Amino acid sequence: MAAARINMNCSIQSSLSCLLKPSYFFNFKTTQFKNRLYFPQNHFISSKRSLLCTCSSNNNNNNSNFQTGEKVEPFVITTPLYYVNAPPHMGSAYTTIAADAIARFQRLLGKRVIFITGTDEHGEKIATAASACGSSPSEHCDVISQAYKMLWKHLDIAYDKFIRTTDPKHEAIVKEFYSRVFANDDIYRADYEGLYCVNCEEYKDEKELLENKCCPMHLKPCVPRKEDNFFFALSKYQKSLEETLAQNPNFVQPSYRLNEVQSWIKSGLRDFSISRAAVDWGIPVPNDNKQTIYVWFDALLGYISALLEVKEQPDLQSAVSSGWPASLHLIGKDILRFHAVYWPAMLMSAGLSLPKMVFGHGFLTKDGMKMGKSLGNTIEPNELVHKFGSDAVRYFFLREVEFGNDGNYSEDRFINIVNAHLANTIGNLLNRTLGLLKKNCQSTLVVDSTIAAEGEDFKDTVEKLVEKACIHYEKLSLSSACEAVLEISNAGNSYMDKREPWSLFKQGGAASEAAAKDLVIILEAMRIIAIALSPVTPNLCRRIYAQLGYSEDQFNNLNWSETKWGGLKGGQVMAQPKPVFARIEQMTETENGGEAAKKVVKRKEKKRQVQGVVEA
Ligand code: MSP
Repeated sequence: MAAARINMNCSIQSSLSCLLKPSYFFNFKTTQFKNRLYFPQNHFISSKRSLLCTCSSNNNNNNSNFQTGEKVEPFVITTPLYYVNAPPHMGSAYTTIAADAIARFQRLLGKRVIFITGTDEHGEKIATAASACGSSPSEHCDVISQAYKMLWKHLDIAYDKFIRTTDPKHEAIVKEFYSRVFANDDIYRADYEGLYCVNCEEYKDEKELLENKCCPMHLKPCVPRKEDNFFFALSKYQKSLEETLAQNPNFVQPSYRLNEVQSWIKSGLRDFSISRAAVDWGIPVPNDNKQTIYVWFDALLGYISALLEVKEQPDLQSAVSSGWPASLHLIGKDILRFHAVYWPAMLMSAGLSLPKMVFGHGFLTKDGMKMGKSLGNTIEPNELVHKFGSDAVRYFFLREVEFGNDGNYSEDRFINIVNAHLANTIGNLLNRTLGLLKKNCQSTLVVDSTIAAEGEDFKDTVEKLVEKACIHYEKLSLSSACEAVLEISNAGNSYMDKREPWSLFKQGGAASEAAAKDLVIILEAMRIIAIALSPVTPNLCRRIYAQLGYSEDQFNNLNWSETKWGGLKGGQVMAQPKPVFARIEQMTETENGGEAAKKVVKRKEKKRQVQGVVEA
């Protein structure tokens, strides 16, 4: 903001006070304070529990602890609210897939999870996109917001709340929040002059720009703007933010992003403009209807308004008591400043608790550039799902990219990873084991898995690996969690290759009995894999579970504690072996008499995979 000039305007503190009913203040100072809304010393909710719980899960899937009567906090996880200037791309899907895996893991731990996603629909960028399509902003928002919902359906995203910032309930929350911050003397009026990036929806500091005043993220020139705006007194919160981060270093994750945030704060926080005089498409400023609220001051509140129940009174008190503060905001690293600096300061000003953690993941890149709508170098996620299925897409991005770092997409790599891990290592192990069980044991387990594994190191290996997976999930190391689960399957394949149960069956007698036990051991490992990988590949795991003879309901009500060895019992009948994951085939076809070569990708026909199973 070096290029910016802020002049205090005398007409501050105008008509807003008439919006604030006396009862509002009464409630705010009495009831609401009691309701954990205000923490002058420590803005975090004090909690002895670790942020992401522990692996010792329970089955108490509701909101209170029966023994103590104490209210158990829900696990509230959010994705960013996506701009609706264009349909979703793989970069937007990435955050949501990760959030869904974390939410599913927390549900397995027995937590009541509130998974929030949604769309950010106001502002200049959206209004411009709508008019470019010849639509009204609201029609445009309806269409794109629906496209997000459809994509989440295709990707098996099990969100609990979808908030649109054009929802009237959200508007009520934003206005109340604004009024609260205003009442705290943190909003003033001033003239502003600076360089604005419409794609970031942010005034830029000239020294962070490239040649020709281009935004480094969007590579488009920033435009000079001069406006009479309302400002939020961010600078007042410099010290509180510094202290907050020093006392709660886990607030920003991964830990290497904390330094970045601390150095922004240290370099001096400047007040920022929270209204726009020239943008109609937005929520009117409560004390000046000619201006609209700046998109970020509007959208961040979506994390709170989303908590409102359908028929609930749209006020902050109700929303907050439904689950605020959030346990985890999952975001991309480009919007860290908004979440780790602006947002906490806004919450402090409004007397609300801070979220417990902000995790800034890396970018999906194409040719080294951030994949994005503005640069037009995106991958269409629906196309990927259509071609490869949702499990493959979810697995590849979570397994391939160490969560927090950047990661590149290549189709060859995608196919190699998915085929090797899901089709060969996991799918084929299940298939060949079930094939042998069908042929030799009428698809029935001969003994309990606990008895089958007596004296076997393999059981310890599986138990250690599943514990490792749990710890990785808790730390949000999603790739490592996948790796630990895959190692179970690798160990299973080695076990099979070493024991060769197909030969033992041929020998008959005690050898045959040992072989039958071996199959129980492998299937027990598959059962554990089906639970432990279900946050990442829910459909694949549902199919594995069904093959093991369990019902849909049993799968839907799983708990992480069931990853303990011993679930499969003697006498349990397995389903007919059917491939759970079809290999992706890559073929090169020639066209025009061999002049042009084109790569065709298709899922391998089930028939061929079944043959592979019999051969095993
Ligand atoms: N509307 C704001 C967020 C407001 S939250 C109160 C916004 N929207 S966005 O659609 O531009 O971006 C949403 C998220 O998608 C961000 O976390 C961003 O980092 C992420 N991604 C967009 N492109 C991405 C990649 N190429 N790779 C990974 N994530 C990326 O910002």
